[in-house]
Amino acid sequence: MTKVVIPWAKPDFWGAEKQYVNEALTSTWISGGPFVDRLESDFKSLCGSKHALAVSNGTTAIHLAYLGLDIRPGDEIVVPGFGFLAAANVALHMSAIPVFCEVNPATWCMTAEDIGRVLTPRTRAIVLVHTYGNVCEMDAIMALAQERNIPVIEDAAEAFPSRYRGKPAGSIGTIGTYSFQATKTITTGEGGMVLANDDNLVERMTLFRSHGLLRKRHYWHEVPGHNFRLTNMQAALGCAQLEQLDRIVSERRRVYDAYCERLTGMPGLMLQQFLPNVDPVVWAVAVRLDPVVYPQGRDAVLSQMLEFGIELRPGFYAASQLDIYDCSSLPICEALAASIVSAPSFPTLTNADIDCICDRLAQLARS
Ligand SMILES: Cc1ncc(COP(=O)(O)O)c(C=O)c1O
Repeated sequence: MTKVVIPWAKPDFWGAEKQYVNEALTSTWISGGPFVDRLESDFKSLCGSKHALAVSNGTTAIHLAYLGLDIRPGDEIVVPGFGFLAAANVALHMSAIPVFCEVNPATWCMTAEDIGRVLTPRTRAIVLVHTYGNVCEMDAIMALAQERNIPVIEDAAEAFPSRYRGKPAGSIGTIGTYSFQATKTITTGEGGMVLANDDNLVERMTLFRSHGLLRKRHYWHEVPGHNFRLTNMQAALGCAQLEQLDRIVSERRRVYDAYCERLTGMPGLMLQQFLPNVDPVVWAVAVRLDPVVYPQGRDAVLSQMLEFGIELRPGFYAASQLDIYDCSSLPICEALAASIVSAPSFPTLTNADIDCICDRLAQLARS
């Protein structure tokens, strides 16, 4: 097997990560503890939200959002047909119905128009996935959702801390969810966060996050809750990562700009587009391959790049291609799935690495 020289992702620890994790261990607060409180407090201040709940990962964040909204069996939840499909999977676990929606072929995100086409009287929530660090067109979507009185969950797992009209992705809808998995912009190994402003909603989610137990009375299950808590050790890592956020973001911007400089105008490659009011922090730089210029297809390009020691990732499969969902054909999502590859985009990727990746991609194009 060829040795991977440039991996797709790599977490970097530049600050007090080891020190804070050690502090958590030494304190013996290894389940809940002060780093969890601090991470929630720092995160909500940064995002301008009233409440933040730290959770065990980005999938439980979505699950908690559904529980907070009292999603019931048979409720319909609108989710994009192209993107990471955690929101659809959690819907199935709750016997809710994921209703898949087309996305815009240039931004790869859902639009108000796409969503409007799939709403029904049974729609109980809309989940926006801000794919690869892009942000959906929030003004039009929020206007539609408010008109129909449907809560909006922003799955900002890939879009922290991208902004829409200056507001952080995840802070605009009814609930925002985030992932701190190892490849994400800040990481706690596994982890996540839920943001919301509504006090009652947050009280419900707080209960469901921890066994449905009320603190004031031991072992009294108020609701059939889960254990979705983040540990103090993971939160310690998260606090240190947040302290490095400016540096992480500026290095990610450098990486994105370097790719743009090389890839814009390169035959056969089309970068993801961002709306003018979106200020993205790109989680993964991704391109569409033109089948005329790359006739070997997406999967062959991935293998050929791997032979050069460079790990690219394929785009997501469209929901309509996966057997676990009841989803009719989504031509735009399927076309994106067939043609997108994403490239290494982590903060310590050097400009020389980026040149090498772009040179290799150009070399694979049909001349
Ligand atoms: C958009 C999106 N939502 C949710 C998740 C799930 O997050 P986690 O892996 O932390 O459960 C991911 C991926 O990790 C994601 O990319």
